[in-house]
Amino acid sequence: MIKCWAPVELEKLRRSGHVVRQILDEAREKVRPGVTTLELEKFVEKRLAQLGAKPASKGYRGYPWCLCTSVNNEIVHGMPSNRRLKEGDIIGLDLGVVVDGYYGDSAITVAVGAVNENVQRLLRVTEEALELGIQMARVGNRVGDISATVQGYVEKNGYSVVREFVGHGIGREYHEEPQVPNFGQAGHGPLLKEAMVFTIEPMVNEKGPELRVLDDNWTAVTADGGLSAHFEHTVAVTRNGPDVLTRL
Ligand code: MF3
Ligand code: CO
Repeated sequence: MIKCWAPVELEKLRRSGHVVRQILDEAREKVRPGVTTLELEKFVEKRLAQLGAKPASKGYRGYPWCLCTSVNNEIVHGMPSNRRLKEGDIIGLDLGVVVDGYYGDSAITVAVGAVNENVQRLLRVTEEALELGIQMARVGNRVGDISATVQGYVEKNGYSVVREFVGHGIGREYHEEPQVPNFGQAGHGPLLKEAMVFTIEPMVNEKGPELRVLDDNWTAVTADGGLSAHFEHTVAVTRNGPDVLTRL
């Protein structure tokens, strides 16, 4: 069953979304050559406590950290470590939080110092794919309209979409129905109704879509070693169109 949330619940979800946004925006400012991914984790952990929020990912299926830090060819679920970022890297920061029992989830991919034009284009296209997907989150559309829009835009730009991980319903649990794939057919899938809430989160690879998971059992990397970018928002379907809960 895909839930439709009462107005007061939507405001709780928005509160969680705003905490995610605030912390991710602050973490983005900490990204620079020489910083370690563990330092970013420690910063996020501190800010969560200060804002009265809990990490959604820490302890989720045994994941040990608040933040996912996915560098370069890492697609998602990269783990904080003593790895030092260097100029020209890209890093995905993916944060889920719980405030008062309601979840919020967002991700950004950030350039470390100056990156070349190809890399800038990968980041831009991935974020644009997310924005176009969000625009399809409307009453009467179907999940497949979002999926097909994201996939079409990404592939038109010469990149590929990851199949193994998908957007998801979110509310009183981190992952709820429906699944929101970044590939699919317009007009297919669950019908979107007022007050449904889910994430849209394209994972876009520079080269092929295939992935493998490292021996840590978490880090998903591109099979061909190409770069990968990830942007994510939590979105509510409203009678006035998409309402991005993870935006201030
Ligand atoms: N925030 C991720 C998502 O988009 C979840 C990461 S899985 C975890 O769903 F184990 F790290 F929590
Ligand atoms: Co998510």
